[in-house]
Amino acid sequence: MKKVLLLGDIHANFPALHAIWCYVRKFSFDHIINTGDFTVYSTFPNETIQWFRRRKNSISILGNTDKRILRILKGERLERPRKAEKRIMYYWTAEILLPENIQYLKSLPYKTDLTIGNIRIGVFHGTSEDEDETLFQSAPEMRFRELAKGSPFHIHVMGHSHTPYYKVIDGVHFINPGSVGRMFDGDPRTSFAILKVSSTNVLVEHFRIPYPVEDVVTALKQYRLPNIYSKMYRMGKKLN
Ligand SMILES: [Fe+2]
Repeated sequence: MKKVLLLGDIHANFPALHAIWCYVRKFSFDHIINTGDFTVYSTFPNETIQWFRRRKNSISILGNTDKRILRILKGERLERPRKAEKRIMYYWTAEILLPENIQYLKSLPYKTDLTIGNIRIGVFHGTSEDEDETLFQSAPEMRFRELAKGSPFHIHVMGHSHTPYYKVIDGVHFINPGSVGRMFDGDPRTSFAILKVSSTNVLVEHFRIPYPVEDVVTALKQYRLPNIYSKMYRMGKKLN
């Protein structure tokens, strides 16, 4: 069986990513998949991107926050996000990113896929049809059926909703590992999943583990970034 570490929505929370790696590094992974949103809302975008650049078995795509950062770096004037505290986080991130990490982001696609044996895995930020679609576990089953219909992929690995789940609909496996770095459900622990694949078996296991949230809070304070984010990381909740 091949082993794949599933990560996504890290949002520059390197302390959370590091905690996951300390927890799982005893396993050897054939692949590491990242569903995008490397950047914004925590202060470690460079460390996060460098971590993936160093791992040649990693496969990453861009998320909506990363795309917006690239637009800012191109000099575009953005209408959104409208909220001042969000804009501060975006512009701060665009300023602190190192040139080699910007280059790396520019090199990434919006979606990708890989094949393990005879199993095809699609990697999407939103869904296979819309990279900005937020697909929660509670979405109508019809929506999953539409995505499964005619899909060339046996497995869809998706992010963006920041909610961990695993569903098999019409023979297609839909997996969201949850968010490594920005929780929405009131549980501040980091979220990820491990996928084991063979030609006859698909196994998925989700994990929630603690990480040093105060390292994120300290860094936010050090850079005088909006207080609301410290509160969000401590609570594991989206407040804006
Ligand atoms: Fe995200």
